[in-house]
Amino acid sequence: MIDNITVQKIFESAEIREVVSDFVTLKKRGVNYIGLCPFHNEKTPSFIVSPSKGIYKCFGCGKGGNAVNFVMEVEQLSYVEALKYLAKKYNIEIEEKELSEEEKQRQDDRESMLIVSKMASDYFESNLLKNEGLAIGLSYFKERSFQNDVIKTFNLGYCLDKWDDFTNNALKEGYKQKYLVDTGLTIESEKGLFDRFKGRVIFPIHSVAGKIIGFGGRTLRKDKNTAKYLNSPESLIYHKSKILYGIYQAKRQLVNKDKCYLVEGYTDVLSFHQSGIENVVASSGTSLTVEQIRLIKRFTNNITIIYDGDAAGIKASLRGIDLILEQGLNIKVLLLPDGEDPDSFAKNHSSSELLNYINANEVDFIVFKTKILLEDTKGDPILKARLITSIINSIAKIPDSILRSVYIKECSSLLKVKESVLYNEIGKLKTTIDSSSADLNTSVNEEIVSSAIPKTYECDLEEKELIRYILLYGDIELFKSSDSPMKVGKFIIDEMNNDNLKSENPLYALFFEKYSLDIMNTENDIKSYFRDNEDSNLRNLTVDILSEKYEISKVWTLNDNHIETEEHKLNDLVLKTINEYKYKKVELLLKQFNNRIKELSNESNSEELRDLLIKKISLQKVKSQLAQFIGHRTII
Ligand code: CTP
Ligand code: MN
Repeated sequence: MIDNITVQKIFESAEIREVVSDFVTLKKRGVNYIGLCPFHNEKTPSFIVSPSKGIYKCFGCGKGGNAVNFVMEVEQLSYVEALKYLAKKYNIEIEEKELSEEEKQRQDDRESMLIVSKMASDYFESNLLKNEGLAIGLSYFKERSFQNDVIKTFNLGYCLDKWDDFTNNALKEGYKQKYLVDTGLTIESEKGLFDRFKGRVIFPIHSVAGKIIGFGGRTLRKDKNTAKYLNSPESLIYHKSKILYGIYQAKRQLVNKDKCYLVEGYTDVLSFHQSGIENVVASSGTSLTVEQIRLIKRFTNNITIIYDGDAAGIKASLRGIDLILEQGLNIKVLLLPDGEDPDSFAKNHSSSELLNYINANEVDFIVFKTKILLEDTKGDPILKARLITSIINSIAKIPDSILRSVYIKECSSLLKVKESVLYNEIGKLKTTIDSSSADLNTSVNEEIVSSAIPKTYECDLEEKELIRYILLYGDIELFKSSDSPMKVGKFIIDEMNNDNLKSENPLYALFFEKYSLDIMNTENDIKSYFRDNEDSNLRNLTVDILSEKYEISKVWTLNDNHIETEEHKLNDLVLKTINEYKYKKVELLLKQFNNRIKELSNESNSEELRDLLIKKISLQKVKSQLAQFIGHRTII
């Protein structure tokens, strides 16, 4: 834990241009700097750094943020890791928060287990260089045509075929038995201590940051009674369901290629690397978990799952894939020819053949699912109805409505069912998903539901403009020549409060709330408060607005050879925008009134109706006044 004061210090010291310059060559362009975007391939620079605003933004791929975001993105670090990186760069001593005794113990235990794991990995790796390790371990890898660079990149190793060679050695070196046992490297039994991975070749498992957290060990025996792979047990440092094999070695290429190949096993990952395809990870033989999908999502939204051609296995994994859809990732599926797994296929083909094969044969998951299940129905109407339900289930989980409609179109033609029927069914399903999840208060469900409905709101445009004025000019005074000057931000908030105007858009509402409660009456800098906010949606909104290319048409008029900026005209502009906002709100309210009036039109004695008609008239007056302010001509 880094304490808040230190975090603040890091944010204040991290100068965006300096931080970015360590990765990108920047050229000065006006008040900004420009360079080639490190997050996507480009030939002409569209990556802008603004020292005054403290942000970067790529107008090609859309990525943007503050200095900490940049480090997280470019080095693929977590928030805390990025802070530590910057602290180091700016020589800021990290004051860790005081930990409780229990927390300290846990942290010590974790540290010790990581140290033991690293030592073990080094030991197993060094075994490959001599005697039994060389003759058996390294020979095995060579037999399977793994080359030295891949063996090195993945720190492959070998554990001698003796009961306790590793354990003994570690104890002799002074490592504590507790940590050898806790990491599962050593098994404690009545007969004594022995090595879990005795006589196996070793595949260390790296965390995203490159720490060794666990191991897989493959037996070299052929007999059926020995498990082919043994893995480290769950521990303080190793959680099988949260990690993917190869993620550390893949992460840069996942971002660069904006794509992740997902295979099943250790050797599949190695063979792909050897073929030059480095954006690959393995789920290690289990079905995918939400945590693993989120892990991939940190780097890319595009996954291609590569299966060996075993139909039973594929059907079993179809359910797991719906999880990926829920997370809003694009999934493709690739079937390899019968009898091949990614490892064998990569070995038997050149890397360009492999890539060509993938590109030519990967298909969209939903289409894939429809096709295999359709084969099973063999024209049976009941089975087909069940299939349609299952496909609809998958489609309903896709958060993006445009993508959903593409799938609906495709499946309608595959299934020979009208699009409107599919829409109808999905509509039904979505209402049940939405209402049933209301009482499932797990965060996963909330996330799915909230991302499933990307909403826009009627007043988004006007409110975003107000937010823009607050962000850019919130502290500048309006009506300076009058008796009662007032800051832009306070003026906007007061106007909204006086007329009881609230944003329907939860993000914008949050912005107005945070501004009026946390910032408006303080000396704090508005831009940096929102740019470095702990809420990533607020942060993104801010970067979005701060990095907008100004539109000449907005203000910049040439008057007597002197350019007037937005700032010069703030009085008029802010007033106009707030009135436009009010006008829009009044319009919406009138619409509501009219609808209600129509509903009530048969009940001539309704009090509500009379009341509404009166309100409507006064509202129409307000509307025409506002129209005059903003220069609309309205005919009532
Ligand atoms: N696996 C496991 N335990 C087993 C068998 C398999 O944990 N008893 C996991 C391993 O991560 C393995 C993956 O499932 O890499 C896929 O299994 P499999 O296809 O059987 O192994 P391969 O990776 O193909 O290994 P090899 O090529 O060495 O046979
Ligand atoms: Mn294999």
